[in-house]
Amino acid sequence: MLNDINSVLLTEDQIQKRIAELGAEITRDFEGKDPLFVGVLKGCFMFMADLMRCVNIRCSVDFMAVSSYGNRSVTSGAVEINKDLSEDIENRHVIVVEDILDSGLTLNYLVNYLGVRNPASITLVTLLDKPARRRVPIKVDYAGFEIPDAFVVGYGLDYAERYRNLPFIGILKPEIYND
Ligand code: PRP
Repeated sequence: MLNDINSVLLTEDQIQKRIAELGAEITRDFEGKDPLFVGVLKGCFMFMADLMRCVNIRCSVDFMAVSSYGNRSVTSGAVEINKDLSEDIENRHVIVVEDILDSGLTLNYLVNYLGVRNPASITLVTLLDKPARRRVPIKVDYAGFEIPDAFVVGYGLDYAERYRNLPFIGILKPEIYND
């Protein structure tokens, strides 16, 4: 598996330090608001687990499973909801947690999809932001790292469902996804 990685973009240490900062900011901004964190599966699973350990306020956690890439490296443009929320979000402060913001189609879709349920607010958190690939304008409230237009995997992010278990974020060798 490691042979498929060209280089390490973000080490475990860099990731954890930045998550601690994001957690502290969110803790400060949402104290007393009892927010609902919504992780967008599958990619968010590691980030969500680490972020939540750095958030020190009363809150709850739920997940959605959303997919638009299938086994492709380019978004299909169509967002599929594979698992919806199990909690009612009316009047709740919803904090959507993503691993990566790429074209923006997924978050744009989710903001509209959740917005009609009358939440008190919707806040967007992404660990990675790849602005070069944006197709719809979207403003995130908390972003971990701005990254270049490279194919990244690890720390929850996959190519064809593989590499999610890497503890760091690496750049995949082009010959792997060009096959
Ligand atoms: C990835 C990622 C985001 C989305 C971002 O999900 O987790 O949800 O793509 O890309 P976008 O800004 O171009 O919409 P993917 O569809 O690969 O599913 P996964 O989380 O199960 O890997």
